[in-house]
Amino acid sequence: MREKIAKAVVLLTVLLLSTLSFIFAFRHNPDAPAEVDLDRAERPVPSPLPPSEPRQIEAESSNAIQILERGRAVYNREGCATCHSIAGVGNPRFPLDGAGDRWKPDELEAWTTAAGFAAELLPPGIVRRKERYRSLPEEDLKALVSNLATLKSEPALPFSNP
Ligand code: HEC
Repeated sequence: MREKIAKAVVLLTVLLLSTLSFIFAFRHNPDAPAEVDLDRAERPVPSPLPPSEPRQIEAESSNAIQILERGRAVYNREGCATCHSIAGVGNPRFPLDGAGDRWKPDELEAWTTAAGFAAELLPPGIVRRKERYRSLPEEDLKALVSNLATLKSEPALPFSNP
């Protein structure tokens, strides 16, 4: 009888210890962070604005994307890449990477159309070539400038190269 009780006590102790060590291991070893999925990565953006209706947010963001897409189409159609490059694509002589950090939207427009201060700084031949962008449809020019404004020096999402 005594032996049985002693065995039971030992068994219970072992059980208790293994349960405790399991709980300890579980609490102190959170899962390794999953690999960052760039498409899905979400950065919480603190917003001082009151929350919008989900449908409104969807409409606004798809509108913003459409504007950026339109800007890109204008950039490609107008042959900006014959002189400029973005992320290594196009003429490497005058990279536009970081232009959105260097210039405000109205300055980006001035550079694009060789107007105002930009006309003073650009060589006459380039001014003549860029002048024709002044006759772009207003919506096209606006979309182009919105897109240029997104050209930041730092990538939008942090990631490490292998
Ligand atoms: C014939 C060549 C040429 C074409 C075509 C051209 N650009 Fe430029 N652009 C220049 C030159 C040269 C500069 C001055 C670059 C410098 O001094 O670093 C410049 C400057 C700029 C800048 C300011 C650059 C910076 O980051 O400081 C922007 C923005 C710009 N161009 C946008 C455009 C866009 C948009 C188009 C197409 C609609 C375009 N350019 C077409 C030659 C051109």
